[in-house]
Amino acid sequence: MRFSTLLFAASVLVAPTVAQTWTDCNPLNATCPDNPALGMHHNFVFNKSSTVTNSFNITAGKLEYGNNGAEFTINKRKDSPTIQSKFYIFFGSVSVVMKAATGQGIISSIVLQSEDLDEVDWEFMGGNATHAETNYFGKGNTTSFDRAVYYPVDTDVRENFHNYTVDWTAERLIWMIDGKIVRTLPFAEANKGHNYPQTPVTVRLGIWSGGDTSFPQGTIDWAGGLTDFSKGPYTMYVKSADVKDYSTGSAYHWGDRSGSWQSIKALAGNSTAAEKILKAEEPTLSIAEKFQALPQTTKMGIYIGSGSAAALLLAAFLFVCIRQRRAGRKERDAYNAKVEKERQDAYTYQVELREKGMGGWDNREFANQGDDALGGWGGSHVVAGSSTRARGNDVPTLPEISGNTGANDFPLRSPNPASGYAGSNNIPRSPSFAHNGEIQSTGSTRGGYHKF
Ligand SMILES: *[C@@H]1O[C@H](CO)[C@@H](O)[C@H](O)[C@H]1NC(C)=O
Ligand SMILES: *[C@@H]1O[C@H](CO)[C@@H](O)[C@H](O)[C@H]1NC(C)=O
Ligand SMILES: *[C@@H]1O[C@H](CO)[C@@H](O)[C@H](O)[C@H]1NC(C)=O
Ligand SMILES: *[C@@H]1O[C@H](CO)[C@@H](O)[C@H](O)[C@H]1NC(C)=O
Ligand SMILES: *[C@@H]1O[C@H](CO)[C@@H](O)[C@H](O)[C@H]1NC(C)=O
Ligand SMILES: *[C@@H]1O[C@H](CO)[C@@H](O)[C@H](O)[C@H]1NC(C)=O
Ligand SMILES: *[C@@H]1O[C@H](CO)[C@@H](O)[C@H](O)[C@H]1NC(C)=O
Repeated sequence: MRFSTLLFAASVLVAPTVAQTWTDCNPLNATCPDNPALGMHHNFVFNKSSTVTNSFNITAGKLEYGNNGAEFTINKRKDSPTIQSKFYIFFGSVSVVMKAATGQGIISSIVLQSEDLDEVDWEFMGGNATHAETNYFGKGNTTSFDRAVYYPVDTDVRENFHNYTVDWTAERLIWMIDGKIVRTLPFAEANKGHNYPQTPVTVRLGIWSGGDTSFPQGTIDWAGGLTDFSKGPYTMYVKSADVKDYSTGSAYHWGDRSGSWQSIKALAGNSTAAEKILKAEEPTLSIAEKFQALPQTTKMGIYIGSGSAAALLLAAFLFVCIRQRRAGRKERDAYNAKVEKERQDAYTYQVELREKGMGGWDNREFANQGDDALGGWGGSHVVAGSSTRARGNDVPTLPEISGNTGANDFPLRSPNPASGYAGSNNIPRSPSFAHNGEIQSTGSTRGGYHKF
């Protein structure tokens, strides 16, 4: 699909809210899949990568994580790290605690966008310390350019974290800065509701350069001027995003092609997004705590596995105990079942230890002891080649994290930033990403137009 250069010409000196401009399937034109619901309230704290990877797709670039939360950095031309929630909210509130990037022409953005291109925005120009831009679109309608309104923020938006909120119902849209309402848009004021955002949206956070020389002058002016990439890197920091879905259910279904909120049906059932979040939040025990929680016989197995002489004595004691228990067949069966379960637990534990680079098995010791003495320990359950040196005579409490295995956190494997979105100038699309030239058709993609 070709961008209209006429549109760009018209954009000169008009706030070009070159908004997030693509959709995989536009429900106004086609029968599209249901949109998975969040269906809950959750505060995403961006202090580790799993918060992002569990619930967001990284649609361009990659992020780093530090004391200031997730870092969206532009190191060079065409960088535009961007994430997009895997879930949708159907009316709701989103509060993002963030620090905008510096850098003339650099745009930090918070975008809510639906599949039919309803959109609610916060945008920050890197050259502007004092103001935040609010904007909205309905059904991708870009024919009027009076929707962007700028509001002053108490302190430098690039130096300080502020809390930027959108509170969105069927009746009105409210933008707040640090809990103070700056803008209210009633439904009717958005072209009698026709331009009012009213369909399920994803939450998108990202940074891009509107001050790239490849953009039309109108875009560059709107962005605050040309970007000097040699003065970078430019980083937007996001501490958290508090997201509340005002609807519940498993997914949002587009009932017809009107794009009206009345046509959207919340399907009954549990939200898989919510289930995933809750599961990830279950308290995880430290490795030492897990060891403490294991049954005694299992612990002995682990001591032996670690080759300790003292533990061998305990094992001998255990051996005797088991022999004595052989007196009663029934008792033995019950005991074996118990041991089997404990062995399973211990095996899981061993696997985990090994994953954390701690090993712990000792084939030779198991061979000496025999399977019987340990109720089935070792033997076939010792993975070939896993025999490791002894690791001291007690249970280690400090897991070693091996270089290539993240214990709690997986290294990011971001997709090729340009994949799927690359246009002729090979710039990845992102929220608020202006794109001139050609959009490559990616099969089902129907979107790919421009706003400003
Ligand atoms: C991240 O923040 C959560 C919620 O405040 C906290 O429980 C957790 O310990 C933090 N994790 C890291 C790695 O700082
Ligand atoms: C996130 O990415 C997955 C895998 O590419 C895709 O199936 C899913 O539709 C994406 N979610 C959204 C909301 O785009
Ligand atoms: C920041 O934006 C506001 C609103 O558009 C504008 O009045 C102000 O002049 C801008 N400041 C700079 C330094 O560009
Ligand atoms: C797009 O918005 C303009 C200005 O608000 C409005 O006049 C026009 O009717 C809208 N177009 C559609 C298709 O709704
Ligand atoms: C951000 O502001 C919203 C709206 O007032 C509030 O509900 C939320 O608790 C605030 N978040 C933080 C982290 O202060
Ligand atoms: C939804 O989750 C609840 C609680 O986890 C469960 O009892 C219920 O069976 C689930 N419903 C469906 C339709 O999966
Ligand atoms: C959807 O269809 C309308 C009306 O036919 C058309 O104007 C619009 O360009 C189409 N949008 C997309 C994204 O294909």
